[in-house]
Amino acid sequence: MSQFIVDGNNCLKGNVSISGSKNSALPIITSTILFKCPVEISNIPDMGDVRILIQIMKDIGVKVDQLSPDTFRFDASGDIESDLSKIKGVSTIRGSQTLLGAILGRNHEVILPVLGGCPIGARPMDIHFQGMKKLGAVIENKGNRKYFKAKKLQGTHVYLDYSSVGATENLILTAMSAEGITIIENAAQEPEVVDLVYLLNQAGARISGIGSSTLQIIGKSALKRIKFSVMPDRIETGTFMLCAVMTKGKIQIEDCCVQDMSSLLFKLRDIGVKVEIRGQSSLLVEMDKRSSSFNIRTMPFPGFPTDLQSPMLSLACLAGGTSIISETVYENRFNVVPELRKMGANIMTNDKIATITGVEKMFGAEVQCPDLRGGISLVLAALAADGKSYIHRASVVDRGYQFIEKKLQRLNASIVRVEDENGYIR
Ligand code: EPU
Repeated sequence: MSQFIVDGNNCLKGNVSISGSKNSALPIITSTILFKCPVEISNIPDMGDVRILIQIMKDIGVKVDQLSPDTFRFDASGDIESDLSKIKGVSTIRGSQTLLGAILGRNHEVILPVLGGCPIGARPMDIHFQGMKKLGAVIENKGNRKYFKAKKLQGTHVYLDYSSVGATENLILTAMSAEGITIIENAAQEPEVVDLVYLLNQAGARISGIGSSTLQIIGKSALKRIKFSVMPDRIETGTFMLCAVMTKGKIQIEDCCVQDMSSLLFKLRDIGVKVEIRGQSSLLVEMDKRSSSFNIRTMPFPGFPTDLQSPMLSLACLAGGTSIISETVYENRFNVVPELRKMGANIMTNDKIATITGVEKMFGAEVQCPDLRGGISLVLAALAADGKSYIHRASVVDRGYQFIEKKLQRLNASIVRVEDENGYIR
């Protein structure tokens, strides 16, 4: 384990380039299982969860060649393993969830262990399973594994009880191999789902309703060899926007997708931040005063993203006035609150609502990352705080941020990573 040591109170200035999106790269990588020919994917971010998934792909029988630091060729023309309970890493990341849809489509059977991911809620997969059943899968529980078998996959009409990102992606992938037409209603509209559909359609799939809540998939399209570039990470984009705000700095964010940032962009402008749009892929974010307080409620896209809720919580800790943050997506996304309190934050939580009374200053403290987005919110708080912070379990942040301390150092942040020999004892 490693820790970040951050010396705060620096104004962050300069340019930063946004990496490819974790939550788009993960399903895109698993989708290559549906191809009987090589697929070249670029802009794949080098981060913990992606590395684990690439190793899983190799272990299930996909030939993976790294062509450049961010470009990989996936060739799934050989046999693909269906028993995921035998494969190391599958149960440690949530990003392995779409292996289910892709392998069920390809092999008509899958053995699935219980999946992991950040400890932010129970994260059941009932909506995925209901959809798979409608497509023709029979599911049996044996111990902590689920056995999926489908003699025939048949196009169907499903309504998702919740517009789950993973369930939408999984059902798209399975429906690709089904006979006839599948319609998914109340589908997730997240840009990452759209990116997956772009890739599949570029390869010859026939999916319509892109970006809407009703998707129509015509199954059994032959997929041809393509090259595809993963979309920019909108959560990393938002994180750097908030770095500028919290440190009263000025950051030009490049290689992002401005269109995906509306909910944050409007909120930041409301609280006094200067955000200049410089074309479709660049933003200049500048702040020279304390921000005003604000209210947010996390929602599926185009609502405010839950993955930016923890970084916004850090901002609220320093805003002038009282902010209210309602988390509607996950049950345990306030695990970072006790850590922020150690840095001087004034936060009260009641179930999924946090009431934050902003303080003038936070101070450096010894804290630990509870989960990926909670971890980055501690880094943000430490950058703005007076004094030194020691942030343990730094590798949790690496699951979803590429070269985070290097990018921050280039913006004038004082942050180093050191080995954490003793770990952290509460
Ligand atoms: N849910 C169910 N049943 C289901 C599926 C989901 O109850 O069958 C619930 C979940 O428990 C959760 C909510 O619905 O409370 C949203 O889950 P969703 O399926 O939409 O999310 P996901 O596919 O598991 C992806 C991202 C998350 C991101 C969410 C929402 C990946 C690998 N993960 O998760 O990313 O928060 O969509 O946008 O794509 C992160 O990057 O830190 C992260 C957690």
